[in-house]
Amino acid sequence: MSRPESNAVREVACVGAGTVGGGWAAVFLARGLDVRAWDPAPDGEAKLRETVASAWPAMEHLGLAPGASQDRLRWAASAEAAVDGADFVQESAPDDEPLKVALLERLDAAAPRDTVIASSSSKFLPSRLAARCKSPERVVIGHPFVPVYLVPLVEVVGGEHTSAEVMRWACDFYTACGKKALPLKREIEAYLANRLQQAVLAEAMSLVEKGVCDWDDVEEAVTYGPGYRWAVVGPMLHRHLGGGRGGVRHMIAHFGWKGPPGSEVEFIDAVERRWSGMSIADLERWRDARLLGMLDVFASYPDPGKRSG
Ligand SMILES: NC(=O)c1ccc[n+]([C@@H]2O[C@H](COP(=O)([O-])OP(=O)(O)OC[C@H]3O[C@@H](n4cnc5c(N)ncnc54)[C@H](O)[C@@H]3O)[C@@H](O)[C@H]2O)c1
Repeated sequence: MSRPESNAVREVACVGAGTVGGGWAAVFLARGLDVRAWDPAPDGEAKLRETVASAWPAMEHLGLAPGASQDRLRWAASAEAAVDGADFVQESAPDDEPLKVALLERLDAAAPRDTVIASSSSKFLPSRLAARCKSPERVVIGHPFVPVYLVPLVEVVGGEHTSAEVMRWACDFYTACGKKALPLKREIEAYLANRLQQAVLAEAMSLVEKGVCDWDDVEEAVTYGPGYRWAVVGPMLHRHLGGGRGGVRHMIAHFGWKGPPGSEVEFIDAVERRWSGMSIADLERWRDARLLGMLDVFASYPDPGKRSG
């Protein structure tokens, strides 16, 4: 196996250099890595350099690794030239399944045999994307969230042939790049976080359609309410802290459980395992400190949105 350790990667290829590919390039460059990029758009290189330059102040704010520089970005003459000799490949071409299948086949043929190839796809099954690859065991989804250079989450999804070792390697590599890597237990279209977002959007469409609210109301309901709190308190902690000093057990005993009968036991176990050793009072103090910090930021950068009516 000629794959470097995930924390010893030197050279990364970014194939497809639009919003997402450009964001990835900024992330990798800020970590002090060499990036070789390719995109078929005639103005691809200029646009990529513009994207990286506009992300760079944020990268400096987060802290650059020693040697990190925008000068380490090089433009390749083809997809094959971009991945030739690369330690890691991040593909960010348009979300068009036949296009991605054909592109991954090319990248698989041209990249070093053990190099992990990640697709930024937002929805396709990795098994389908890797269908024409000779080494599908090294193909994963590495699904980021825009702006890629700031949002920590990267969903890592393996297909039927992806090896467990490649899943671990990809998670370790993204972690070394400062990301929060989240491996899914099995593949599913649109993965995890987008499916959650889609559920909210579908309900919003239905409520607007029924005349309960308009789109401004939806925007404000999310960003001033659960969205603000979700950054600190997800569905598990919400139910834990909603139960007062009795925690999640009291919450469920009091308000009931809408899942399949018996599944609440697993939920309660997961909550109590995750925050074992922390009292409800400690958790409330931690929550309030983070929420207050966010309110300070919000006050410094007020909502520029204006209602037309
Ligand atoms: N925009 C988002 O919010 C978002 C978030 C997460 C993941 N993604 C995923 O990232 C990928 C890229 O999305 P984007 O938003 O950057 O799109 P984009 O349109 O900004 O960029 C796509 C780039 O791919 C280039 N391209 C076209 N054909 C190509 C080919 N054959 N090979 C290589 N590059 C090619 C285009 O010239 C363009 O620069 C998609 O898979 C998308 O689902 C997007």
